[in-house]
Amino acid sequence: MRKAWWKEAVVYQIYPKSFQDTNGDGIGDLQGIIRHLDYIHDLGATVIWLNPIYASPQVDNGYDISDYQSIHPAFGTLDDFRQLLDEAHRRGIRVILDMVLNHTSDEHRWFQESKKSKDNPYRDFYIWRPAKNGKEPNNWGNYFYEGRGSAWEWDETTQEYYLHNYSKKMPDLNWDCPAMRQEIYSMLRWWCDLGIDGFRLDAINRLQKPKGLPDSTRPCAPPVNPYGYIVDREMCANQPGIHDLLKELNREVFSRYDIMTVGETGNLTSVKALPYIHEDSHEINMLFHFEIAKNAHLVSVPEYKDIQKRWADVIRQGGWSTQYLTNHDSPRQISRFGNDGEFRVESGKMLAMLSHTQPGTIYVYQGEEIGMINVNFPSIEYYDERYTVGKYHSMVEQGVDPKEALEQLKMMSRDNVRTPMQWSSEQFAGFSDSKPWLSVNPTYTEINVQAAIADPASILYTYKQLIALRKEHPVMVYGDYCPVMEQYENVVAYTRAYEGEKWFMIFNFQAAPQEIEFPEELKGLTERALLMCNYPDHKARTLRPYEARIYKIS
Ligand code: NOJ
Repeated sequence: MRKAWWKEAVVYQIYPKSFQDTNGDGIGDLQGIIRHLDYIHDLGATVIWLNPIYASPQVDNGYDISDYQSIHPAFGTLDDFRQLLDEAHRRGIRVILDMVLNHTSDEHRWFQESKKSKDNPYRDFYIWRPAKNGKEPNNWGNYFYEGRGSAWEWDETTQEYYLHNYSKKMPDLNWDCPAMRQEIYSMLRWWCDLGIDGFRLDAINRLQKPKGLPDSTRPCAPPVNPYGYIVDREMCANQPGIHDLLKELNREVFSRYDIMTVGETGNLTSVKALPYIHEDSHEINMLFHFEIAKNAHLVSVPEYKDIQKRWADVIRQGGWSTQYLTNHDSPRQISRFGNDGEFRVESGKMLAMLSHTQPGTIYVYQGEEIGMINVNFPSIEYYDERYTVGKYHSMVEQGVDPKEALEQLKMMSRDNVRTPMQWSSEQFAGFSDSKPWLSVNPTYTEINVQAAIADPASILYTYKQLIALRKEHPVMVYGDYCPVMEQYENVVAYTRAYEGEKWFMIFNFQAAPQEIEFPEELKGLTERALLMCNYPDHKARTLRPYEARIYKIS
């Protein structure tokens, strides 16, 4: 297997809006990130990924970009960014940017031009179609459940519809337009020339739309849209032609720099992954799949094991993988996959030990390292993000009781992870001096960085230890992965082996204890072989709730 810095990386994901406010406007900023670089360095992370920081009307918190080459004023200036880049690099931390190439904001200059007339030079930068039988060109529904639900918006001036798979404020770019592609490549090169270290590529497998933009014929998930629009995310995913686009992006930009690329690829399983990430494909380095993250909770432990096994095979065949259990779009991982009550600390440590010992680049989302949990806002007014709010109104309009609608949406709301970072037990969790743009999770009085640092048994130290181990032991990065003890339904166990070093990991992925019998080759395991355990003491053959152990067996 070829070695690469991005395979060895531990990426710390920062949601700038919620990380640290330094100018008292209740919104996080770049100076706030600079303030905490030592904290990130101390944690051991080697890369930071910033969610979008570009100029944007913030309809979707920056995924609606109105100018790719300037910074959203609430976050700071380009000089602040340069300073951040320098300060990060001085500490040996690389910086990757979120890059949104599937759509822009409708306030982007290109779209403003595009909608002026049918013969405007920017017209083809977006996807315009005439009405079909007096209606939208097809039955696609927008992913945010906005308005009546269509993915098309009528434009009076030119009497055509434009496509927006997300919000109507986020028109989809037309990747069939060569002039648009050239603009994008030169913009990406501009960022690389500035010295950034890579991109997280938003919705990257959706750039190529299906030829002819046909109607979706897949059954719509309930509640069915009364207007007949179907939210079908398969429709624009992995379409023929997508690999040519990515190869061109790679040729024109990525291959010219020593950068890492990680694609966000919904609707993609391990089966179709290799062409994107094979080391000889020359497309992207790795991707975020949603096989673990697609449902509200873990489907089942056996399925989790099966997914990890399949992705380990992808690596064996020349691809690469990512390990993440949460991000800015998912619930908090302890609330989702662990237990955010009695076993918050144990399950938080277990999930960390599990992710960090699986093959792939490691992603840690801000606050994960101190065991932050989901928020439980009392009413829809507290929620901000488009999906929750859009879906709530669509459900209520279709007759669902408002309380019931909120209950159903709470668990998966993206606001669970977007509440301000909990730095201390001071007012507003030390995030800001004034009222934050999104309410702080009331758990901040107990769960915060200051408290975590003061407690040697906190989840934070488990992360630090894991990241330090990764730097010392290449087996954690390059080790071959082999599942063992598969007869125990709720136990995950595997070995990793690399150049004569072999590790064995075992996790009790449930709130109940579990008796186990070690296989012959592991029977002689001694205390000395134990590198880490999330309980202060342990009994060899009984795993306690969420118990996790890492052994170095040779
Ligand atoms: C995926 C991003 O992670 C999400 O936050 C965003 O809403 C959509 N793509 C649209 O850009």
